Amino acid sequence: MNRPLILVNVAMTADGKIDSAARKGAAISSIADKRRVDEFRASVDAVLVGGRTLLNEDPNLTVKSAELRAERLRKGWPENPAKVGIISEIPAIGAHGLRLDDAGGLRPPLRQFLTSGPAKVYLFTTRCTAPEVLSAFKTAGVKVHAMGQERVDLVAVFRSLHEAGIRSVLVEGGGTLIADLFRLGLVDELTIYIAPKIFGGASAPSLADDSGFLPEQAPGLKLKSVEKFDDEGGILVHYFVEHME
Ligand SMILES: NC(=O)c1ccc[n+]([C@@H]2O[C@H](COP(=O)([O-])OP(=O)(O)OC[C@H]3O[C@@H](n4cnc5c(N)ncnc54)[C@H](OP(=O)(O)O)[C@@H]3O)[C@@H](O)[C@H]2O)c1
Repeated sequence: MNRPLILVNVAMTADGKIDSAARKGAAISSIADKRRVDEFRASVDAVLVGGRTLLNEDPNLTVKSAELRAERLRKGWPENPAKVGIISEIPAIGAHGLRLDDAGGLRPPLRQFLTSGPAKVYLFTTRCTAPEVLSAFKTAGVKVHAMGQERVDLVAVFRSLHEAGIRSVLVEGGGTLIADLFRLGLVDELTIYIAPKIFGGASAPSLADDSGFLPEQAPGLKLKSVEKFDDEGGILVHYFVEHME
């Protein structure tokens, strides 16, 4: 297989929503689940998110626990997994776009994503991103690749990560990116923390968004485990994904 193992993890409400309709990164995970996700991050070579999650939340995607980071270093691994973002167009101006720093130079958005670490950072985008934006990211030490005209070729992304020595990738959302990965047969395992709440809202993001799958094309899952996870009533479900030949 010339791609890494691809593991998807999400926190979801009992009605399948991964955020409320307000799309402000609503809290869903319990404290115990956050600890579990930190351990999950500490076990992989890279953590990957989609463009809207990246721009709206500027996640730092690092391992929080100093002990887990030290354990990675003891194993001869980098202190944090690499961070990977998939984004069709990095905006040049506007709320998330480039700004001028004190010296009048261009400063890229995504402060936490770029600077918290130490961690390697990869951004895969398309030719829609302006050249000055690409060079601002390169100056910031980001491995930025413009792949494709309007959509990033996700198969090529994982091939390129594999060539860079990355053997396992934890995908942390959002729903549009996850749906794309399922459509392309690029998910190996799915872990869902289900919180005992309902967000509702037709426009609230769900685990797999976009246009959905016809029943005959719906990805199949094989249950690996299910457990009552914490004192808050959360459930943890772990599936293997059945790959169609
Ligand atoms: N509960 C959880 O575990 C969890 C985790 C993460 C995120 N979330 C939530 O999920 C929501 C965000 O999800 P979302 O579905 O709106 O967005 P998303 O999946 O984070 O990002 C989707 C965007 O990524 C870009 N993208 C994906 N595949 C691409 C490809 N092949 N080529 C080019 N660009 C590609 C596109 O950007 P363009 O639009 O620019 O084309 C697309 O709109 C937020 O509300 C966030 O809070 C929840």
